[in-house]
Amino acid sequence: MAIRFELLHTCKQSGARYGLLHTPHGTFETPIFMPVGTLATVKTLTPEEIKEVSDGLILGNTYHLWLQPGEDIVKAHGGIRGFMHWDGALLTDSGGFQVFSLTDMRKIKEEGVYFKHHKSGESLFLSPEKAIEIQEKLGADIIMSFDECPPHDASYEYTRDSLARTLRWAERGKKALTTDQALFGIVQGGLYDDLRLESAKKLIEMDFPGYSIGGLSVGESKSEMYRILDLLNPVMPKDKPRYLMGVGSPDDLVEGVIRGVDMFDCVLPTRNARHGTAFTTTGKIQIRNKQFEWDMTSLDPNLQTPFSKYSKSYIRHLFKAEEILGMRIMTYQNLAFLKQLMKEIRQAILEDRLLDFKKEFFTRYGYLK
Ligand code: GUN
Repeated sequence: MAIRFELLHTCKQSGARYGLLHTPHGTFETPIFMPVGTLATVKTLTPEEIKEVSDGLILGNTYHLWLQPGEDIVKAHGGIRGFMHWDGALLTDSGGFQVFSLTDMRKIKEEGVYFKHHKSGESLFLSPEKAIEIQEKLGADIIMSFDECPPHDASYEYTRDSLARTLRWAERGKKALTTDQALFGIVQGGLYDDLRLESAKKLIEMDFPGYSIGGLSVGESKSEMYRILDLLNPVMPKDKPRYLMGVGSPDDLVEGVIRGVDMFDCVLPTRNARHGTAFTTTGKIQIRNKQFEWDMTSLDPNLQTPFSKYSKSYIRHLFKAEEILGMRIMTYQNLAFLKQLMKEIRQAILEDRLLDFKKEFFTRYGYLK
């Protein structure tokens, strides 16, 4: 197990955790946000730029890289890090989530999942062992168990049976691992409290170096997600990192940290950016809006980036004209914004004032308006 987590401070006001995550490719302060680099690229940015707008830990996807270009080509380059020339640390998701979210006509069996390629229609099979084998070739520092993320409105019986299988898959993945990559178990169980607690308990008994919380931010309400996090917070081991998968709106990051989460990833900042939505220190804006046609100010007057010289009017023009530079500028902004937010969150934890910070931030950002 090549990672180590040190819990260094617990915020007296909120219970939020500040710690250090030691990996073979760097030590990272937590809570941390990890930008998503699904296909061995954080869309539109160079690795040098990713370095500037991240804390040095990013995510890649097993499902996508397995299908394209294939894990052996990635391995021949020295894994994802060599392939994309990323000298920071990496985490890969197992592919489970993508099989369930991107494909239809799946057949879930005890041995794994049979499904069709989301574009070509080719017949494919992914199993807990295969997901580990691929992730070993991709070479990330932290890897994920193969899991099923059931729909948030799945019945109790479906979710119970799915969870039981996901726990067996976690055990099989653990047995299949031949490297010292840190394999995390993923807590599932939908919105059912007893299933969530059972999932956490069984995974903790299996003793993983870290625990992911999956199956959230999949269509349920925010209050339901926060309820599950509140439920899990006291039962998760204090000395292991906790990773909330696929969550990354600014308010959910703050609320997640308050509920004991140490790591996050989400496509939201990068995907929103490509659709013209910017996170700024004074709130969210849609750059295509007419109100910015003559706006000569920078995207975010409170956040200096190498792109700060450009006016909103210019960036709006780039989007209207479908020029790629517009997407780059917005991607940089949104990730720089989240990096800054996580830094402020960590500082507030260390100063035992995260609830005060939440109030200030939500007022500034517009959630309380
Ligand atoms: N990404 C977001 N949610 C999930 C989940 O439940 N499982 C996995 N493997 N990845 C995710």
